[in-house]
Amino acid sequence: MVLAKTRFNRLLFLSQRSPFTTTSTMTIATATAHFATRILPAHDVELTFSSTLDDGAFLATGSDTQWIAECCKELRRNRCVGLPTETVYGLAANALDAEAVSAIYAAKARPSDNPLIVHVSSMRMLRALYYLPPASSGTTPPFLGTANAGPEGAGAGLAEPVAVASAMADAETRDREQGGDGVWPEIPRAYHAVIRRFWPGPLTLVLPRPACVPLAVLGGHGDTVAFRFPAHPVARAAISACGLPLAAPSANASGRPSPTAAAHVMHDLNGRLPLIVDAGACDVGVESTVLDAYSATAHVDGELAPCILRPGGVTYEDLRALGGVWQRLRVYRRDFTSAALELAPTTPGMKYRHYAPTAPVHVFVPGPQSEAISARMQAQIDTLALKGVRKVGVVAVAVAAAGDDVPAPAFVAPAGCELTVHCVGGARELAHSIFALLRELDEIEHVEAILVQGVVDANEGLAVMNRLTKAASHHVLC
Ligand code: TXA
Ligand code: MG
Repeated sequence: MVLAKTRFNRLLFLSQRSPFTTTSTMTIATATAHFATRILPAHDVELTFSSTLDDGAFLATGSDTQWIAECCKELRRNRCVGLPTETVYGLAANALDAEAVSAIYAAKARPSDNPLIVHVSSMRMLRALYYLPPASSGTTPPFLGTANAGPEGAGAGLAEPVAVASAMADAETRDREQGGDGVWPEIPRAYHAVIRRFWPGPLTLVLPRPACVPLAVLGGHGDTVAFRFPAHPVARAAISACGLPLAAPSANASGRPSPTAAAHVMHDLNGRLPLIVDAGACDVGVESTVLDAYSATAHVDGELAPCILRPGGVTYEDLRALGGVWQRLRVYRRDFTSAALELAPTTPGMKYRHYAPTAPVHVFVPGPQSEAISARMQAQIDTLALKGVRKVGVVAVAVAAAGDDVPAPAFVAPAGCELTVHCVGGARELAHSIFALLRELDEIEHVEAILVQGVVDANEGLAVMNRLTKAASHHVLC
Protein backbone atom coordinates (compact mmCIF):
# COMPACT_ATOMS: atom_id res chain seq x y z
CA MET A 1 0.00 0.00 0.00
CA VAL A 2 1.49 3.35 -1.01
CA LEU A 3 0.39 6.16 1.25
CA ALA A 4 3.16 8.68 0.95
CA LYS A 5 5.14 9.52 -2.13
CA THR A 6 7.54 12.37 -2.48
CA ARG A 7 9.79 13.50 -5.26
CA PHE A 8 12.72 15.75 -4.59
CA ASN A 9 13.93 17.43 -7.74
CA ARG A 10 15.06 20.64 -6.18
CA LEU A 11 14.48 19.36 -3.97
CA LEU A 12 34.66 29.66 16.60
CA PHE A 13 32.37 28.04 18.07
CA LEU A 14 32.81 28.99 21.77
CA SER A 15 29.44 28.67 23.45
CA GLN A 16 28.75 31.60 25.76
CA ARG A 17 27.40 31.07 29.23
CA SER A 18 24.44 33.21 30.16
CA PRO A 19 24.41 35.21 33.38
CA PHE A 20 22.21 32.51 34.95
CA THR A 21 23.83 30.32 37.52
CA THR A 22 22.90 26.70 38.04
CA THR A 23 23.97 23.80 40.15
CA SER A 24 24.00 21.20 37.34
CA THR A 25 27.34 20.09 35.93
CA MET A 26 28.11 21.13 32.42
CA THR A 27 31.09 20.54 30.19
CA ILE A 28 31.85 21.49 26.60
CA ALA A 29 33.80 18.77 24.82
CA THR A 30 35.35 19.52 21.46
CA ALA A 31 35.80 17.03 18.64
CA THR A 32 39.08 15.19 18.41
CA ALA A 33 38.36 13.06 15.31
CA HIS A 34 38.93 14.73 11.95
CA PHE A 35 37.05 13.67 8.83
CA ALA A 36 37.25 14.52 5.14
CA THR A 37 33.60 15.60 5.10
CA ARG A 38 31.68 14.43 2.01
CA ILE A 39 28.41 15.84 0.72
CA LEU A 40 26.18 13.32 -1.05
CA PRO A 41 23.20 14.56 -3.13
CA ALA A 42 19.61 13.47 -2.50
CA HIS A 43 17.95 15.55 -5.22
CA ASP A 44 16.93 12.98 -7.80
CA VAL A 45 15.35 10.42 -5.54
CA GLU A 46 11.81 9.20 -5.15
CA LEU A 47 10.96 7.74 -1.74
CA THR A 48 7.75 5.80 -1.32
CA PHE A 49 6.71 4.80 2.21
CA SER A 50 4.40 1.88 2.88
CA SER A 51 2.55 3.59 5.72
CA THR A 52 2.04 7.08 7.13
CA LEU A 53 2.68 6.30 10.79
CA ASP A 54 3.01 2.68 11.76
CA ASP A 55 5.83 1.33 9.66
CA GLY A 56 8.93 2.93 8.10
CA ALA A 57 9.39 0.58 5.13
CA PHE A 58 10.13 2.43 1.90
CA LEU A 59 11.28 2.08 -1.68
CA ALA A 60 13.87 4.39 -3.21
CA THR A 61 14.27 5.05 -6.93
CA GLY A 62 16.22 7.64 -8.93
CA SER A 63 19.88 8.35 -9.52
CA ASP A 64 20.64 9.83 -6.04
CA THR A 65 20.35 6.83 -3.71
CA GLN A 66 23.98 6.30 -2.66
CA TRP A 67 23.43 8.32 0.54
CA ILE A 68 21.17 5.60 1.94
CA ALA A 69 23.85 2.92 2.21
CA GLU A 70 26.48 5.47 3.26
CA CYS A 71 24.25 6.80 6.06
CA CYS A 72 23.64 3.25 7.29
CA LYS A 73 27.37 2.57 7.33
CA GLU A 74 28.33 5.73 9.24
CA LEU A 75 25.40 5.69 11.68
CA ARG A 76 25.94 2.03 12.55
CA ARG A 77 29.60 2.86 13.29
CA ASN A 78 28.31 5.42 15.82
CA ARG A 79 29.42 8.38 13.71
CA CYS A 80 27.47 11.58 13.03
CA VAL A 81 25.72 12.40 9.74
CA GLY A 82 24.29 15.76 8.61
CA LEU A 83 20.70 15.07 7.55
CA PRO A 84 18.01 17.29 6.02
CA THR A 85 14.69 17.52 7.85
CA GLU A 86 11.65 19.64 6.98
CA THR A 87 12.63 22.12 9.74
CA VAL A 88 16.43 22.48 9.74
CA TYR A 89 19.39 20.18 9.03
CA GLY A 90 20.18 17.84 11.93
CA LEU A 91 23.46 16.39 13.22
CA ALA A 92 22.31 12.80 13.66
CA ALA A 93 23.81 9.81 15.47
CA ASN A 94 22.70 6.57 17.14
CA ALA A 95 20.52 7.62 20.10
CA LEU A 96 21.05 4.27 21.83
CA ASP A 97 24.81 4.59 22.26
CA ALA A 98 26.38 7.03 24.73
CA GLU A 99 29.58 7.19 22.69
CA ALA A 100 27.70 8.14 19.51
CA VAL A 101 25.74 10.76 21.46
CA SER A 102 28.90 12.26 22.93
CA ALA A 103 30.27 12.59 19.37
CA ILE A 104 27.31 14.90 18.63
CA TYR A 105 28.04 17.13 21.63
CA ALA A 106 31.74 17.27 20.68
CA ALA A 107 31.15 17.97 16.95
CA LYS A 108 29.08 21.07 17.63
CA ALA A 109 30.68 22.02 20.97
CA ARG A 110 27.29 21.79 22.61
CA PRO A 111 27.12 22.14 26.40
CA SER A 112 26.68 18.62 27.79
CA ASP A 113 23.59 19.53 29.86
CA ASN A 114 21.47 20.64 26.86
CA PRO A 115 19.31 17.58 26.00
CA LEU A 116 18.79 16.21 22.50
CA ILE A 117 15.71 15.30 20.47
CA VAL A 118 15.44 11.64 19.41
CA HIS A 119 14.07 11.05 15.89
CA VAL A 120 12.11 7.96 14.86
CA SER A 121 10.73 6.80 11.50
CA SER A 122 7.61 4.95 12.64
CA MET A 123 5.35 4.45 15.63
CA ARG A 124 6.59 0.89 15.71
CA MET A 125 10.16 2.07 16.22
CA LEU A 126 9.10 4.50 18.95
CA ARG A 127 7.04 1.88 20.78
CA ALA A 128 9.80 -0.75 20.52
CA LEU A 129 12.15 1.47 22.53
CA TYR A 130 10.04 0.91 25.65
CA TYR A 131 10.88 -2.83 25.58
CA LEU A 132 14.64 -2.73 25.03
CA PRO A 133 17.05 -3.28 27.93
CA PRO A 134 19.03 -0.33 29.36
CA ALA A 135 21.69 0.91 26.99
CA SER A 136 25.23 -0.31 27.41
CA SER A 137 27.96 0.95 25.13
CA GLY A 138 29.77 -1.41 22.81
CA THR A 139 26.96 -3.97 22.40
CA THR A 140 25.51 -4.74 18.94
CA PRO A 141 22.66 -2.31 18.37
CA PRO A 142 19.20 -3.67 17.61
CA PHE A 143 17.58 -3.21 14.20
CA LEU A 144 14.29 -1.37 14.66
CA GLY A 145 13.73 -0.61 10.99
CA THR A 146 11.97 -2.86 8.56
CA ALA A 147 13.56 -5.75 6.73
CA ASN A 148 12.82 -4.32 3.29
CA ALA A 149 13.83 -0.76 4.17
CA GLY A 150 16.64 0.91 2.31
CA PRO A 151 19.22 -0.48 -0.05
CA GLU A 152 19.59 -4.18 -0.48
CA GLY A 153 21.38 -5.56 2.52
CA ALA A 154 21.06 -2.45 4.71
CA GLY A 155 19.35 -4.44 7.43
CA ALA A 156 20.97 -7.76 6.48
CA GLY A 157 21.54 -10.05 9.41
CA LEU A 158 19.64 -7.71 11.72
CA ALA A 159 16.11 -8.11 12.93
CA GLU A 160 13.77 -6.39 15.30
CA PRO A 161 14.26 -8.36 18.52
CA VAL A 162 11.51 -11.02 18.70
CA ALA A 163 10.93 -10.33 22.40
CA VAL A 164 10.10 -6.72 21.53
CA ALA A 165 7.45 -7.61 18.96
CA SER A 166 5.70 -10.02 21.34
CA ALA A 167 5.93 -7.59 24.31
CA MET A 168 4.26 -4.95 22.14
CA ALA A 169 1.48 -7.35 21.18
CA ASP A 170 0.98 -8.30 24.87
CA ALA A 171 0.73 -4.63 25.86
CA GLU A 172 -1.95 -4.07 23.21
CA THR A 173 -3.96 -7.03 24.53
CA ARG A 174 -3.64 -5.84 28.16
CA ASP A 175 -4.77 -2.35 27.15
CA ARG A 176 -7.87 -3.75 25.41
CA GLU A 177 -8.64 -5.94 28.44
CA GLN A 178 -8.58 -2.80 30.58
CA GLY A 179 -11.09 -1.06 28.31
CA GLY A 180 -8.59 0.77 26.10
CA ASP A 181 -8.45 0.65 22.30
CA GLY A 182 -5.13 -1.25 22.26
CA VAL A 183 -3.46 1.50 20.25
CA TRP A 184 0.03 2.70 21.24
CA PRO A 185 -0.37 1.75 24.92
CA GLU A 186 3.14 3.02 25.74
CA ILE A 187 2.34 6.58 24.61
CA PRO A 188 0.42 8.87 27.01
CA ARG A 189 -3.22 9.13 25.82
CA ALA A 190 -3.23 12.92 25.56
CA TYR A 191 -0.75 12.71 22.69
CA HIS A 192 -2.70 10.30 20.47
CA ALA A 193 -4.83 12.94 18.70
CA VAL A 194 -1.77 15.17 18.24
CA ILE A 195 0.23 12.31 16.72
CA ARG A 196 -2.58 11.40 14.29
CA ARG A 197 -2.88 15.02 13.20
CA PHE A 198 0.73 16.28 13.16
CA TRP A 199 3.13 13.33 12.81
CA PRO A 200 5.19 12.90 10.80
CA GLY A 201 5.98 16.60 11.05
CA PRO A 202 7.68 19.53 12.79
CA LEU A 203 6.50 18.63 16.29
CA THR A 204 8.51 17.20 19.20
CA LEU A 205 6.77 15.48 22.12
CA VAL A 206 8.09 15.16 25.67
CA LEU A 207 7.59 11.48 26.60
CA PRO A 208 8.61 9.12 29.42
CA ARG A 209 12.22 8.03 29.11
CA PRO A 210 12.68 4.50 27.73
CA ALA A 211 15.41 2.71 29.71
CA CYS A 212 17.43 2.09 26.53
CA VAL A 213 18.00 5.82 25.93
CA PRO A 214 21.30 6.74 27.61
CA LEU A 215 21.42 9.62 30.09
CA ALA A 216 23.75 11.51 27.74
CA VAL A 217 20.75 12.18 25.45
CA LEU A 218 18.93 13.83 28.36
CA GLY A 219 21.86 16.10 29.09
CA GLY A 220 22.53 13.95 32.16
CA HIS A 221 19.32 14.74 34.04
CA GLY A 222 15.56 14.32 34.06
CA ASP A 223 13.30 11.40 33.29
CA THR A 224 11.79 12.49 29.98
CA VAL A 225 12.95 12.24 26.37
CA ALA A 226 11.85 14.56 23.57
CA PHE A 227 10.84 12.54 20.47
CA ARG A 228 10.20 13.67 16.90
CA PHE A 229 8.98 11.79 13.83
CA PRO A 230 10.24 13.91 10.93
CA ALA A 231 8.23 14.27 7.73
CA HIS A 232 11.20 14.84 5.44
CA PRO A 233 11.42 11.64 3.38
CA VAL A 234 15.22 11.69 3.37
CA ALA A 235 15.41 11.90 7.18
CA ARG A 236 12.71 9.27 7.59
CA ALA A 237 14.36 6.92 5.11
CA ALA A 238 17.79 7.31 6.74
CA ILE A 239 16.37 6.43 10.18
CA SER A 240 14.39 3.53 8.82
CA ALA A 241 17.24 2.09 6.77
CA CYS A 242 19.78 2.11 9.60
CA GLY A 243 17.05 0.82 11.92
CA LEU A 244 18.07 3.05 14.82
CA PRO A 245 16.46 6.04 16.51
CA LEU A 246 18.68 9.07 15.87
CA ALA A 247 19.52 11.81 18.33
CA ALA A 248 19.83 15.01 16.31
CA PRO A 249 20.24 18.62 17.34
CA SER A 250 20.37 21.29 14.67
CA ALA A 251 23.62 20.84 12.73
CA ASN A 252 25.13 24.25 13.50
CA ALA A 253 28.10 25.06 15.70
CA SER A 254 26.59 25.72 19.12
CA GLY A 255 25.19 29.27 19.42
CA ARG A 256 25.09 29.94 15.66
CA PRO A 257 21.98 30.26 13.42
CA SER A 258 20.43 26.90 12.61
CA PRO A 259 21.35 25.40 9.20
CA THR A 260 18.69 25.24 6.49
CA ALA A 261 21.01 24.09 3.68
CA ALA A 262 23.83 21.54 3.39
CA ALA A 263 26.31 24.39 2.77
CA HIS A 264 25.48 25.84 6.21
CA VAL A 265 26.36 22.51 7.84
CA MET A 266 29.59 22.37 5.87
CA HIS A 267 30.45 25.94 6.90
CA ASP A 268 30.10 25.19 10.62
CA LEU A 269 31.14 21.54 10.89
CA ASN A 270 33.54 20.75 8.02
CA GLY A 271 35.98 18.08 9.25
CA ARG A 272 33.85 17.22 12.29
CA LEU A 273 31.64 14.62 10.60
CA PRO A 274 32.17 12.20 7.70
CA LEU A 275 28.97 12.81 5.73
CA ILE A 276 26.30 15.41 4.93
CA VAL A 277 23.25 14.52 2.81
CA ASP A 278 22.15 17.43 0.60
CA ALA A 279 18.43 17.57 -0.24
CA GLY A 280 18.25 21.32 -0.85
CA ALA A 281 16.69 23.99 1.37
CA CYS A 282 14.45 23.03 4.31
CA ASP A 283 10.77 23.89 3.82
CA VAL A 284 9.79 25.14 7.29
CA GLY A 285 13.05 26.90 8.16
CA VAL A 286 12.62 27.05 11.96
CA GLU A 287 12.84 24.10 14.33
CA SER A 288 10.04 21.88 15.55
CA THR A 289 7.56 22.90 18.24
CA VAL A 290 8.52 21.27 21.56
CA LEU A 291 5.29 20.23 23.26
CA ASP A 292 4.87 18.86 26.79
CA ALA A 293 1.63 17.13 27.77
CA TYR A 294 3.29 14.69 30.14
CA SER A 295 5.78 16.06 32.69
CA ALA A 296 5.09 17.97 35.91
CA THR A 297 5.44 21.22 33.95
CA ALA A 298 2.36 20.22 31.96
CA HIS A 299 0.18 19.96 35.08
CA VAL A 300 -1.51 22.66 37.15
CA ASP A 301 -3.08 21.57 40.47
CA GLY A 302 -2.90 17.95 39.29
CA GLU A 303 -4.80 18.74 36.06
CA LEU A 304 -3.22 18.35 32.64
CA ALA A 305 -2.45 21.75 31.12
CA PRO A 306 -0.21 21.11 28.08
CA CYS A 307 2.47 23.61 27.22
CA ILE A 308 4.60 24.63 24.29
CA LEU A 309 8.20 24.83 25.54
CA ARG A 310 9.54 26.04 22.19
CA PRO A 311 7.25 27.45 19.48
CA GLY A 312 8.02 26.01 16.03
CA GLY A 313 6.70 24.47 12.85
CA VAL A 314 3.31 23.43 14.31
CA THR A 315 1.57 26.53 15.66
CA TYR A 316 -0.23 27.22 18.95
CA GLU A 317 -3.37 27.93 16.91
CA ASP A 318 -3.06 24.55 15.09
CA LEU A 319 -2.79 22.67 18.40
CA ARG A 320 -5.62 24.55 20.14
CA ALA A 321 -7.88 23.70 17.21
CA LEU A 322 -7.78 20.06 18.40
CA GLY A 323 -10.24 21.11 21.13
CA GLY A 324 -10.68 19.38 24.51
CA VAL A 325 -7.63 19.60 26.77
CA TRP A 326 -5.81 21.51 24.02
CA GLN A 327 -8.01 24.51 24.76
CA ARG A 328 -5.89 24.81 27.92
CA LEU A 329 -2.63 24.96 25.95
CA ARG A 330 -0.10 27.46 27.30
CA VAL A 331 3.06 28.89 25.77
CA TYR A 332 6.10 29.06 28.01
CA ARG A 333 7.22 32.64 28.68
CA ARG A 334 4.13 34.08 26.95
CA ASP A 335 1.43 32.59 29.19
CA PHE A 336 3.44 31.41 32.21
CA THR A 337 6.95 31.39 33.58
CA SER A 338 8.72 29.36 36.20
CA ALA A 339 11.95 30.10 38.02
CA ALA A 340 12.86 26.40 37.96
CA LEU A 341 12.35 26.19 34.20
CA GLU A 342 14.42 29.32 33.62
CA LEU A 343 17.40 27.54 35.12
CA ALA A 344 16.78 24.10 33.63
CA PRO A 345 18.45 23.48 30.31
CA THR A 346 15.43 21.44 29.18
CA THR A 347 13.76 24.78 28.66
CA PRO A 348 14.82 25.21 25.07
CA GLY A 349 17.13 28.06 24.43
CA MET A 350 16.83 29.83 27.76
CA LYS A 351 20.19 29.10 29.30
CA TYR A 352 22.52 29.40 26.34
CA ARG A 353 23.17 31.89 23.56
CA HIS A 354 21.26 30.84 20.44
CA TYR A 355 20.89 31.49 16.72
CA ALA A 356 23.36 34.39 16.78
CA PRO A 357 25.48 35.54 13.84
CA THR A 358 28.71 37.45 14.54
CA ALA A 359 27.17 40.80 13.58
CA PRO A 360 24.72 42.17 16.17
CA VAL A 361 21.07 41.66 15.24
CA HIS A 362 18.45 44.39 15.88
CA VAL A 363 14.84 43.24 15.77
CA PHE A 364 11.96 45.68 15.31
CA VAL A 365 8.75 44.55 16.97
CA PRO A 366 5.57 45.78 15.27
CA GLY A 367 3.16 47.58 17.59
CA PRO A 368 -0.03 49.62 17.15
CA GLN A 369 1.33 52.67 18.96
CA SER A 370 4.63 52.80 17.13
CA GLU A 371 5.36 54.90 14.13
CA ALA A 372 5.77 53.00 10.85
CA ILE A 373 8.24 50.19 11.41
CA SER A 374 10.27 51.02 8.30
CA ALA A 375 10.74 54.63 9.55
CA ARG A 376 12.07 53.26 12.87
CA MET A 377 14.42 50.98 10.96
CA GLN A 378 15.64 53.83 8.77
CA ALA A 379 16.31 55.93 11.90
CA GLN A 380 18.39 53.06 13.32
CA ILE A 381 20.36 52.73 10.08
CA ASP A 382 21.13 56.48 10.24
CA THR A 383 22.19 56.20 13.91
CA LEU A 384 24.48 53.25 13.20
CA ALA A 385 26.07 55.12 10.27
CA LEU A 386 26.70 58.13 12.51
CA LYS A 387 28.47 55.76 14.93
CA GLY A 388 30.78 54.68 12.10
CA VAL A 389 29.09 51.46 10.94
CA ARG A 390 29.96 51.06 7.24
CA LYS A 391 27.94 48.01 6.18
CA VAL A 392 24.38 47.26 7.29
CA GLY A 393 22.15 44.32 6.29
CA VAL A 394 18.37 44.62 6.39
CA VAL A 395 15.66 41.95 6.33
CA ALA A 396 12.33 43.62 5.53
CA VAL A 397 8.85 42.13 5.37
CA ALA A 398 6.42 43.26 2.70
CA VAL A 399 3.09 42.29 4.25
CA ALA A 400 0.23 42.33 1.79
CA ALA A 401 -3.07 43.72 3.10
CA ALA A 402 -6.19 41.94 1.85
CA GLY A 403 -4.26 40.10 -0.84
CA ASP A 404 -2.79 43.26 -2.40
CA ASP A 405 0.87 43.41 -3.20
CA VAL A 406 2.67 45.80 -0.91
CA PRO A 407 5.86 47.30 -2.29
CA ALA A 408 9.00 46.45 -0.34
CA PRO A 409 9.92 49.29 2.02
CA ALA A 410 12.60 51.51 0.48
CA PHE A 411 15.58 52.29 2.70
CA VAL A 412 18.12 55.01 2.01
CA ALA A 413 21.81 54.32 2.55
CA PRO A 414 23.40 57.14 4.57
CA ALA A 415 26.61 58.63 3.13
CA GLY A 416 29.53 56.24 3.58
CA CYS A 417 27.33 53.31 4.61
CA GLU A 418 26.57 50.37 2.35
CA LEU A 419 23.12 48.81 2.64
CA THR A 420 22.06 45.29 1.62
CA VAL A 421 18.29 44.77 1.76
CA HIS A 422 16.47 41.43 1.52
CA CYS A 423 12.70 41.41 1.44
CA VAL A 424 10.35 38.53 2.31
CA GLY A 425 6.59 38.30 1.92
CA GLY A 426 5.16 37.63 5.38
CA ALA A 427 5.68 35.55 8.53
CA ARG A 428 5.80 32.13 6.88
CA GLU A 429 8.40 33.25 4.36
CA LEU A 430 10.37 35.00 7.11
CA ALA A 431 10.43 31.71 9.07
CA HIS A 432 11.49 29.81 5.95
CA SER A 433 14.40 32.15 5.12
CA ILE A 434 15.50 33.87 8.33
CA PHE A 435 18.40 31.60 9.27
CA ALA A 436 19.71 31.51 5.68
CA LEU A 437 19.48 35.32 5.44
CA LEU A 438 21.25 35.85 8.78
CA ARG A 439 24.03 33.58 7.55
CA GLU A 440 24.27 35.23 4.13
CA LEU A 441 24.50 38.73 5.61
CA ASP A 442 27.01 37.59 8.22
CA GLU A 443 29.18 35.01 6.48
CA ILE A 444 29.07 36.19 2.85
CA GLU A 445 28.25 39.91 2.93
CA HIS A 446 30.20 40.49 6.18
CA VAL A 447 27.88 43.29 7.33
CA GLU A 448 28.59 44.97 10.66
CA ALA A 449 24.95 45.05 11.85
CA ILE A 450 21.74 43.28 10.84
CA LEU A 451 18.30 44.90 11.17
CA VAL A 452 15.27 42.64 10.96
CA GLN A 453 11.67 43.75 10.63
CA GLY A 454 9.67 41.63 13.06
CA VAL A 455 6.16 40.25 12.58
CA VAL A 456 3.15 39.86 14.87
CA ASP A 457 3.79 36.92 17.21
CA ALA A 458 0.80 34.81 16.19
CA ASN A 459 0.65 31.69 13.97
CA GLU A 460 4.02 31.21 12.22
CA GLY A 461 5.10 34.58 13.64
CA LEU A 462 5.40 33.21 17.20
CA ALA A 463 8.27 30.84 16.33
CA VAL A 464 10.16 33.29 14.15
CA MET A 465 9.92 36.10 16.76
CA ASN A 466 11.09 33.63 19.43
CA ARG A 467 14.24 32.88 17.37
CA LEU A 468 14.81 36.52 16.43
CA THR A 469 14.57 37.89 19.96
CA LYS A 470 17.15 35.30 21.04
CA ALA A 471 19.42 36.08 18.08
CA ALA A 472 19.11 39.78 18.92
CA SER A 473 19.81 39.24 22.62
CA HIS A 474 19.41 42.80 24.00
CA HIS A 475 18.73 44.65 20.70
CA VAL A 476 14.96 44.09 20.65
CA LEU A 477 13.32 47.37 19.70
CA CYS A 478 9.63 47.84 20.39
O1 TXA B 1 13.35 20.75 14.28
C1 TXA B 1 14.05 20.31 15.20
O2 TXA B 1 13.60 20.06 16.32
C2 TXA B 1 15.55 20.09 14.91
C3 TXA B 1 15.65 19.00 13.84
C4 TXA B 1 17.08 18.59 13.57
O3 TXA B 1 14.85 17.92 14.19
N1 TXA B 1 16.26 19.75 16.09
C5 TXA B 1 16.54 20.68 17.04
O4 TXA B 1 17.31 20.20 18.07
O5 TXA B 1 16.14 21.82 17.01
P1 TXA B 1 18.06 21.15 19.11
O6 TXA B 1 18.95 20.27 19.87
O7 TXA B 1 18.68 22.27 18.39
O8 TXA B 1 16.91 21.62 20.07
C6 TXA B 1 16.31 20.69 20.92
C7 TXA B 1 15.54 21.37 21.98
C8 TXA B 1 16.51 21.92 23.00
O9 TXA B 1 16.31 23.30 23.16
C9 TXA B 1 16.20 21.15 24.26
O10 TXA B 1 16.27 21.96 25.40
C10 TXA B 1 14.79 20.61 24.02
O11 TXA B 1 14.69 20.43 22.63
N2 TXA B 1 14.63 19.33 24.71
C11 TXA B 1 15.31 18.19 24.52
N3 TXA B 1 14.91 17.23 25.38
C12 TXA B 1 13.94 17.78 26.14
C13 TXA B 1 13.13 17.30 27.22
N4 TXA B 1 13.24 16.06 27.68
N5 TXA B 1 12.23 18.15 27.76
C14 TXA B 1 12.10 19.41 27.28
N6 TXA B 1 12.84 19.94 26.27
C15 TXA B 1 13.76 19.14 25.72
MG1 MG C 1 19.52 24.09 17.90
